[in-house]
Amino acid sequence: MIGYSASVLILICLSISAVHSRSVAEDGLKLPSDVKVFANRGEADGEDAGGTRWAVLIAGSNGYWNYRHQADVCHAYQILKSGGLKDENIVVFMYDDIAFNEYNPVQGSIINNPHGNDVYRNVPKDYTGDNVTVDNFFAVLLGNKSGLTGGSGKVVDSGPDDHIFVYYTDHGGPGVLGMPSIAPYLYANDLIEMLKKKHASGTYKSLVFYIEACESGSIFEGLLPEGMNIYATTASNAEENSWGTYCPGMIPPPPPGFDTCLGDLYSVAWMEDSDTHNLRTETLKQQYKVVNDSNFCISLPGNVKKRTLNKNRSEGSHVMQYGDIKLDKNHLYMYFGTNPANDNITFVDENSLPQYVEAVNQRDADLLHFWHKYNKAPEGSSEKLKAQKNLHDVMRHRVHVDNSVNLIGELLFGYEEGERILKFVRPAGQPLVNDWACLKNMVSTFETHCGSLAQYGMKHMRAFANLCNAGVSKEQMAVVSAQACVNLPTSSWNSISTA
Ligand SMILES: *[C@@H]1O[C@H](CO)[C@@H](O)[C@H](O)[C@H]1NC(C)=O
Ligand SMILES: *[C@@H]1O[C@H](CO)[C@@H](O)[C@H](O)[C@H]1NC(C)=O
Ligand SMILES: *[C@@H]1O[C@H](CO)[C@@H](O)[C@H](O)[C@H]1NC(C)=O
Ligand SMILES: *[C@@H]1O[C@H](CO)[C@@H](O)[C@H](O)[C@H]1NC(C)=O
Ligand SMILES: *[C@@H]1O[C@H](CO)[C@@H](O)[C@H](O)[C@H]1NC(C)=O
Repeated sequence: MIGYSASVLILICLSISAVHSRSVAEDGLKLPSDVKVFANRGEADGEDAGGTRWAVLIAGSNGYWNYRHQADVCHAYQILKSGGLKDENIVVFMYDDIAFNEYNPVQGSIINNPHGNDVYRNVPKDYTGDNVTVDNFFAVLLGNKSGLTGGSGKVVDSGPDDHIFVYYTDHGGPGVLGMPSIAPYLYANDLIEMLKKKHASGTYKSLVFYIEACESGSIFEGLLPEGMNIYATTASNAEENSWGTYCPGMIPPPPPGFDTCLGDLYSVAWMEDSDTHNLRTETLKQQYKVVNDSNFCISLPGNVKKRTLNKNRSEGSHVMQYGDIKLDKNHLYMYFGTNPANDNITFVDENSLPQYVEAVNQRDADLLHFWHKYNKAPEGSSEKLKAQKNLHDVMRHRVHVDNSVNLIGELLFGYEEGERILKFVRPAGQPLVNDWACLKNMVSTFETHCGSLAQYGMKHMRAFANLCNAGVSKEQMAVVSAQACVNLPTSSWNSISTA
């Protein structure tokens, strides 16, 4: 079993900030009656008279080993609530299997920082469980009540002067984001089409979209047009991983008993920055830079100043901007409001110096969780056996998916050419694939013969896209998939991920 831990890639990264050790938004929670006092202050404050702030927050995963995504979303809700947004204007999508999960050591509570307070408190349960779907997300943002299935019925019923913030945190892959259960993938082209519809409906003034996921740049790269008043940032470019943080065994670790990562690097960077500043004085661009700085990882811990860090940088992810970049002059206040407790904390570079935290590749965070559970369970206990089985299943699923995809490439193009074609990365500025229907077809054909890609397997989306770009037909794909996947692992990762 020792080998598994070695395969987990852990990096030491920089995270904000000098003043972040307690989350002000969390401490500064107001009673609903207090909130009303400042809920509409925005309208008097100059930058944007009139207009309502709306937000859609989505955690696309489930399972205790993915604790961090729902923790991120709950934390985002607290920031917006402290900023003065009303519940009727914040739509939350989360599976909601964490707070009362059997493994959660503090039942009924969720934290997003080792020293953080409960962020689960008062979070609206608009779309939970199987109601967290692509179709509901689209219907909510489009304000299309008749397009909803289940859930609270809350939609973004916005008008032409309104500002919308969308935040998505989950696993992803080239061209896709995950969803917890039904219709598991959100494809980039469908997202862009939906945004075009929203724009055409004239129901917002500007829209800001933050995404945390592996290869999240691929969601917008070559796809999001300018001129729609949409500004997006992503945790990584189209080829990089994104990173989980506050994980067991790391610096800083979660409190004892959590056995899972509490947050994600890009997400906690923007949120801990937002928690601790007067957001009337900080622009989207300033936050973008702070988050970008915190997403680079170094090989050794230390306590050097930001300006000397460049030479020690090794790996990490580039935070990217897409769409109407000129919107980055807007103050965060226009989207998040601001917590009155921070009124005297003006944003300056010096109060956003990165500090060291460690991080793990999103795709290895589940291994870290099961490894940790295995390690600490008493010898011979049923818990140890269960953790061992989970580790085995995860690894078997990974090996199966990787081998099947590689074999398909070899069967189609031969050994060397196969690898070259599957791994090819288009130049920056070009979308992943020209024919998205083909990509969806390749994926469903693969899954019919080889089983679900699941969270880990989304990394192979680029390989499927490249098959389309190389002109492979659906029929050819069906033949080689059947040849490659004669045997499926009896208990796949997917069977536990949907348990
Ligand atoms: C709302 O959703 C329904 C169901 O998906 C769809 O038929 C209808 O066209 C949508 N309406 C708008 C205005 O998008
Ligand atoms: C989905 O939404 C419906 C309608 O609000 C609700 O009755 C149902 O319990 C929800 N399902 C889940 C799994 O949360
Ligand atoms: C983001 O960080 C990387 C790595 O330090 C750097 O090369 C890049 O210039 C930064 N981007 C911005 C806009 O600051
Ligand atoms: C790089 O990191 C090492 C080890 O922490 C440190 O000794 C060195 O001063 C750093 N170099 C720079 C340029 O920051
Ligand atoms: C900000 O500073 C002013 C002047 O010192 C003070 O009156 C006010 O209470 C402070 N506000 C907060 C939220 O600390």
